[in-house]
Amino acid sequence: MLSEARVCVVAGPGGVGKTTVSAALAMEMARSGLRVAVVTIDPAKRLASALGLESLDNTPHRVENARLAKGGVKVEQGGELWAMALDPKRTFDDLITGLSPDASSRQQVLDNRIYRELSGAVAGAQEFTAVAKLYELESEGNFDLIVLDTPPSRNALDFLDAPARLSRFFDGRAMQVVMKPATVGLRIAGGGTGILMGVMKRFTGVDLFSDLADFFSAISGMVDGFTERARGVAALLADSRTVFVIVTTGEETPLAEATYLANRLADDGRPLSALIVNQVNADPNIKRKAVRTKEVREALGEELSTQLADAVDTARKSADRDRSGLTGITASLKPERLAVVERLHGEVHDIQGLARIAAEVFSD
Ligand SMILES: Nc1ncnc2c1ncn2[C@@H]1O[C@H](COP(=O)(O)OP(=O)(O)O)[C@@H](O)[C@H]1O
Ligand SMILES: [Mg+2]
Repeated sequence: MLSEARVCVVAGPGGVGKTTVSAALAMEMARSGLRVAVVTIDPAKRLASALGLESLDNTPHRVENARLAKGGVKVEQGGELWAMALDPKRTFDDLITGLSPDASSRQQVLDNRIYRELSGAVAGAQEFTAVAKLYELESEGNFDLIVLDTPPSRNALDFLDAPARLSRFFDGRAMQVVMKPATVGLRIAGGGTGILMGVMKRFTGVDLFSDLADFFSAISGMVDGFTERARGVAALLADSRTVFVIVTTGEETPLAEATYLANRLADDGRPLSALIVNQVNADPNIKRKAVRTKEVREALGEELSTQLADAVDTARKSADRDRSGLTGITASLKPERLAVVERLHGEVHDIQGLARIAAEVFSD
């Protein structure tokens, strides 16, 4: 599936392993001989350093084949792995720079208080900038495959709606109103809003209204560019060579979120190309009774041997829960492909760890 795809979007609830799986998928496809870029979002520190992402400069960096080889990954002819950690603020700024007709309107936007708040706010900005970056990388055409990790947002689908929301914003009434800041602005300033803003300014020293007006007049020259970009992003997400992979764990809440997400994708005409159930607890294959023997109790003492028996119990329950969760979600979503990845000991923070994840994802 991935050797035919151009874009792979890895979505799912927070904390299930999206970033880890994205890196593992990208690494494996690079190993098989493709030029692959992975766009990660907030990678854990140690994973970031394993991929050489200490410095965030918002463009993909090559993960040298020698580095991969040290982790036991032998890359086939032509294969290249590139990785970047998304910096939403920088991406937004770059977007403005790209769309600005001239240097002064660019600076006007970048310096504007409203813009700084808007672009720095994590909610929404991360989603939008993730797809904007994806679009940029895809348009440049330097990669066979781009793997996009998605932000840990409460609504995992926010990123899908981001382009549409942006288009609506520019097409909509809000924009029409502020596009004529002179006349409408005066009218509003004369009414209740103006008084409110005036009071705010007096007490906070923040002249919100004039900041807003400045922002919209500065950005007005970029509206067409934004709208076009949003359309391009929407088209890319709808393309048949863009595949969606959902990652979840076997726990109740993530399973419910993953199911919701998959159904939303289906409603939008996007089939679930693959489902990855990650961090599945292996069956300990041992019964409580087996550790309640006289020998164990004598060797460990009463307290420790009871704890051991409880731990065995907990492990069995987790394994049972994951197994039934897996059966349930597979039956209800009927993904085109299913992969099950066990919970590894400790964190997955290096090339070897990623290779183990990849080995499980790509096994039969
Ligand atoms: N199969 C696995 N076994 C053990 N730990 C895992 C596994 N997959 C992910 N992790 C760990 O779980 C944590 C969350 O993973 P991450 O990829 O950052 O999740 P997300 O991007 O969905 O928030 C990380 O510490 C990661 O190392
Ligand atoms: Mg993540």
